[in-house]
Amino acid sequence: MPTLCKPGVLVTRPIFPEVIARLAEHVRVCVQEEDRRLEPAALRERVRGMVGLLSFVTDRVDASVMDASPELRVIGNCAVGYDNIDLDAATARGIQVSNTPGVLTEATADLAWALILAVARKLVPADRHVRQGRFHGWGPMDFLGTDLCGATLGILGMGRIGRAVARRAVGFRMRILYTSRSPVEPLPADATLGGAGFGEGPERVPLDRLLRESDILTLHVPLSESTFHLIGRQELAAMKPASILINTSRGKVVDEAALVEALRDARMGGAGLDVYEDEPALAPGLCDLDNVVVLPHIGSATVGTRMKMAMTAAENIIQGVQGRRVPNRVNTGLPVP
Ligand code: DGY
Repeated sequence: MPTLCKPGVLVTRPIFPEVIARLAEHVRVCVQEEDRRLEPAALRERVRGMVGLLSFVTDRVDASVMDASPELRVIGNCAVGYDNIDLDAATARGIQVSNTPGVLTEATADLAWALILAVARKLVPADRHVRQGRFHGWGPMDFLGTDLCGATLGILGMGRIGRAVARRAVGFRMRILYTSRSPVEPLPADATLGGAGFGEGPERVPLDRLLRESDILTLHVPLSESTFHLIGRQELAAMKPASILINTSRGKVVDEAALVEALRDARMGGAGLDVYEDEPALAPGLCDLDNVVVLPHIGSATVGTRMKMAMTAAENIIQGVQGRRVPNRVNTGLPVP
């Protein structure tokens, strides 16, 4: 099909050339070449006339964006989370919306573990200490951290990523508790070999027990009305005094101001954060705290994973512009196709 007759697809950030090439086999690709978030007005302007939109977590795709292009049929969000898209508005307009589940599970679980280890073993202040030339030899009381072996890992949300985090905890011989809407299938047989003498597989518990008993609490729930500030002042107060909070899900699941207070008052041991309530802004005071590791939303940021995510989003869009059912459609209520 000549390029000009092909349906248009807007890609809102620069991505791998292989993905652009794959899209270009079927559609006319318009890439926003500057690697920055498009302001809402610019997004409305750029999407005009497009049939597909390849969006990212930084794009706020609301009804006004959809109305800017009455031709819009499919939105392929290059992320597993899709809280940046007004799903009801898309469904009402017959627009298929898709995400990229599965392909980022392992990379995100790895990063949650990187944060657990970094906070528990004080890696960032220890690294700074060496770089600043303050390391004058081994010290018996220097940078004392937290033992992971035998500690209790609490997993809030036992979906794909929560389960991948749990699998890794087996190797650390941790006791695993979790809270989720439904019980999970047992982990592979070797999962029950861990637990440092606990001998049991992961135990499903209510939230209040998860908060009370976890030494490390890691969050793996999507953002929705029911998970907004799920970890607020009251929940933080219920956690153990030396506990560590890890968040690689969505910033708004945690009341960040309350977290800063709890950390500042030493009511918790520390936190490892990859996501923030009002990204890219951080709550005042967060960066002044020594017991916090802050990362710039890089849970899925490996070459292989980001390639798979972008390719998955592209394949979803190709199906959508051809009027077929999109494989990873998240607005399941949509009657057609
Ligand atoms: C996701 O996939 O939801 C991440 O937050 C972006 O990689």
